[in-house]
Amino acid sequence: MRDPKHVAILISGRGSNMRALVEQAKEYEVALIASNKPEAPGLEWARLRGFSTWELESKGIEKEAFDRKLSAALEVHGVGTVALAGFMRILSPWFVHEWRGRIVNIHPSLLPKYRGLDTHARAIADAEQFGGCSVHLVTEELDAGEVLGQAEVPILPTDNAQSLERRVLAEEHRLYPTVLSEFVMR
Ligand code: GRF
Repeated sequence: MRDPKHVAILISGRGSNMRALVEQAKEYEVALIASNKPEAPGLEWARLRGFSTWELESKGIEKEAFDRKLSAALEVHGVGTVALAGFMRILSPWFVHEWRGRIVNIHPSLLPKYRGLDTHARAIADAEQFGGCSVHLVTEELDAGEVLGQAEVPILPTDNAQSLERRVLAEEHRLYPTVLSEFVMR
């Protein structure tokens, strides 16, 4: 049974958003933490705290074959909502269809501006007044699904990509748990 309040968090790296989602969980329960990178530091953090984890190196496996194995693991854990948190892999159309309307992501820009990578450097280069982050639904088109929530961060004259990233990341850690709690209730 897929329960919307049973959340899987998908990571590939350090997992700071995953930690924020775990530590600020209110309306949802973290049922599984999964990674396509067995060496992801966030996975070790999750294991040490007794969370169920799933890992499979995605390099060398055909995309949909990986996604079918991932999907089976989500089913086993009764997952109903999939939260991407620094999951550096584009999901296959099969997976997006199978979990349609149930996958969310955090992206470090004020969507629809700056989809893709290097969002902070691009915002600074364009002399934007604000950067920020967005939680959005995942669809087949990259970073293009419905925006569920956003937080703005002023860009200072002294900012570079790293300093802006630090301040935006702090906002991500506040925004994502709040929006996810609202999302699982809707
Ligand atoms: C965050 O900036 C997030 O917006 C982007 O990837 C980064 C992940 O960082 N999708 P972390 O692994 O959550 O620390």
